[in-house]
Amino acid sequence: MDKVLIWDWPVRIGHWLLVGAFALAWITGDSEEWRLVHAFAGGTVVGAILFRLLWGLVGTRHARFASFVRGPRAALDYVLGLLRGDASQYAGHNAAGGWAIVALLTLGLLTGASGWLTYQDMGGEWLEEVHEALATGMLAVAAVHVAGVVVSSLAHRENLLRSMLTGLKQGRPDEAIANARPLVLVVLLGWVVACAWWLAR
Ligand code: HEM
Repeated sequence: MDKVLIWDWPVRIGHWLLVGAFALAWITGDSEEWRLVHAFAGGTVVGAILFRLLWGLVGTRHARFASFVRGPRAALDYVLGLLRGDASQYAGHNAAGGWAIVALLTLGLLTGASGWLTYQDMGGEWLEEVHEALATGMLAVAAVHVAGVVVSSLAHRENLLRSMLTGLKQGRPDEAIANARPLVLVVLLGWVVACAWWLAR
């Protein structure tokens, strides 16, 4: 199989924005001094996720939820296939990875919402506890996600991390997307900055 274009620019840059912003929010979470940076990083996470939800409906082929959110049976089959050494190859996200992505996006939104309410002094101590628990849950799912990326990379002999940078993956020519959507990337960046600024103010 050849390398073909699978991930557009908004998916790739959105992913790394999410990773960077989540990491920054995590390391600044306990500090009063870094509160504004923490709120800005959290706002970036929320902005990137809100954009991703819309892009999952109207984006390019492999970015769409309809193309990668499959039933629990397909996810289980993929994991069993990994254990047997004959896991099916997917041009986009695999059936198990799709569920980790849904969990990360959901936890990211809930973490952001509880953090924003706490930041606005709208929740009590309990909401802060909920915010921390959600962030910890998200870190745990992210760890499972990264482990899954490593295992799938080894199983399919393909560097999936590199594919999230270049957009190229093994696939048939008819599975490729025609355009990497660089202009939508500009919209994404503008939206994320506006969102982060608005939520951190
Ligand atoms: C630095 C460690 C990470 C690496 C190497 C990594 C790598 C990847 C790769 C290779 C994919 C595509 C998987 C596939 O081929 O199906 C992916 C997807 C994804 N990752 Fe990560 N990831 C990392 C950390 C994270 C973290 C911390 C989060 C959440 C905060 C995250 C959220 C996501 C999401 C939401 C997707 C779906 C992308 C999309 O369809 O828009 N990742 N990641």
